[in-house]
Amino acid sequence: MKLSIRPGDITTLAVDAVVNAANSQLQVGGGVDLAINRAGGPGIQAEARRIRIDQYPDGLPAGQAVATTAGDLPARWVIHTVGPVYSPTEDRSATLASCYRESLRLAASLGAASIAFPAISAGVYGWPIDDAARIAVETSRAMAHEVGRTVKEVIFVPFGEEAVRAYETALAR
Ligand code: APR
Repeated sequence: MKLSIRPGDITTLAVDAVVNAANSQLQVGGGVDLAINRAGGPGIQAEARRIRIDQYPDGLPAGQAVATTAGDLPARWVIHTVGPVYSPTEDRSATLASCYRESLRLAASLGAASIAFPAISAGVYGWPIDDAARIAVETSRAMAHEVGRTVKEVIFVPFGEEAVRAYETALAR
């Protein structure tokens, strides 16, 4: 399993699975969620809404993941995962790590050979980017033995200069 960095807009990537930093209601919010839904069209939200009503009437818990069509994106699936809101007083990093684990497991079950992750929780949800990038890289690396036979490429997509540096540091560790 190869880990790499590709800075920029995740909606342009021709990968099998694009991961969305969603919310529990699977309703379109801001940030990367809005970008994915805008670029991918209404099919994504329609399927996400169906999944929420049928399978998660109380909302998709943080740390879990579900897949929908990627609509008009150059990807096959969007994997929606809900990151934890950052808390300076409570350690929620196990939940953030779970987002990466469950997304990778779902990708493998779909047969996705490539997957692209934004920095989950590092926007609206306030997670410091250095720590978010460290958790992303460490958790994904540790999943190679479990999903590496199917998922050959994990691409981290930093948005902005600070995020690029954070992922470079995390990958070099
Ligand atoms: N491509 C890649 N990364 C992006 C893009 C994009 N087009 N747009 C934003 N980002 C980056 C942000 O810079 C941030 O580093 O994605 C990271 C995650 O930020 P958010 O999208 O705000 O996600 P998060 O912090 O997990 O908050 C989730 O925000 O949009 C709502 O519905 C979403 O309520 C949920 C919450």
